[in-house]
Amino acid sequence: MSKKIILDCDPGHDDAVAIMLAAASKEIEILGITCVGGNVGLDNTLDNALKVCTLIERTDIKIYSGARKPIHYDLFTAEYVHGKTGLDKKGEPLSVKPDYKIQQQNAIDFIIETCHSATEQIYLCPTGPLTNIAVSLQKDPSIKEKIKEIIFMGGAAMCLGNTTPSAEFNIYVDPHAANIVLDSGIPLTMMGLDVTHQVNVNRNVINSMEENNNKSSKFFAELMEFYTIFHKNLYETEETPLHDPCVIAYLLDPSIFSGKLVNVKVEENSELTRGETVVDWLGVTSREPNCFVMDKADDKKFFKLLKNKFSILP
Ligand code: BDR
Ligand code: CA
Repeated sequence: MSKKIILDCDPGHDDAVAIMLAAASKEIEILGITCVGGNVGLDNTLDNALKVCTLIERTDIKIYSGARKPIHYDLFTAEYVHGKTGLDKKGEPLSVKPDYKIQQQNAIDFIIETCHSATEQIYLCPTGPLTNIAVSLQKDPSIKEKIKEIIFMGGAAMCLGNTTPSAEFNIYVDPHAANIVLDSGIPLTMMGLDVTHQVNVNRNVINSMEENNNKSSKFFAELMEFYTIFHKNLYETEETPLHDPCVIAYLLDPSIFSGKLVNVKVEENSELTRGETVVDWLGVTSREPNCFVMDKADDKKFFKLLKNKFSILP
């Protein structure tokens, strides 16, 4: 039986790859895509989701508009990584199928209604700031019972942050939302920089994907050509972490990743360490474990899965 998911994202080059990986997988049923302001403003993340689903000919997937800004802070965006549109790249401009529109219902109400109407527990898969998920949980805490697991991309347990020395982007943007999710009691899995930096795109990965010889794999290559620029400069390497698809890969094959159930809390206010995921890896506090934090990834298995799945896309 397929796993039913809501993919909550801020596309974003790596979010786009996560959408495509999920859409290519019959083991997963996408109940809807909910967008949030993050990498770029909400209008752009919505437009990018429409464009990605148009390109892969999956305009049956419904897309919902969520939070424009974090719960307390102003929105901090990452055009410096993803370009002005959030999905900058060379090659053919992307288009949206003319009758493919954003749904009228907003993302928060969609998440709540979907949880209530689901006949089985569902998975929430956030790959952007956690605002939509947190606001949904605040508005209707009873949805918790209908959520099997939240697998989120965010945080840095035992490595440097990528937005400040202590914070990863998604958690930095909305640390208050992150704590609401972490305090929810729902089973949580954290795909932080610890693992996403073990899943790196390089020239070999791009060349191998191009062997699929379809438009989705060509799109992957174009996306990665742009996305790698920022990382090459920051990390002074030819390797670029492919963060968000880790969430979907975990649903498809959990054996790719391993980690430990520990306590995670997020610093909300400090000017120096806002958005830091404080991970009690050694169990040195009396705080109860609340999150499965991944720290190892098998990149060979990951990229084999990604290439296979992309081979069946248009
Ligand atoms: C996260 O930040 C965004 O730029 C990416 O899409 C990913 O979700 C990585 O820190
Ligand atoms: Ca993202």
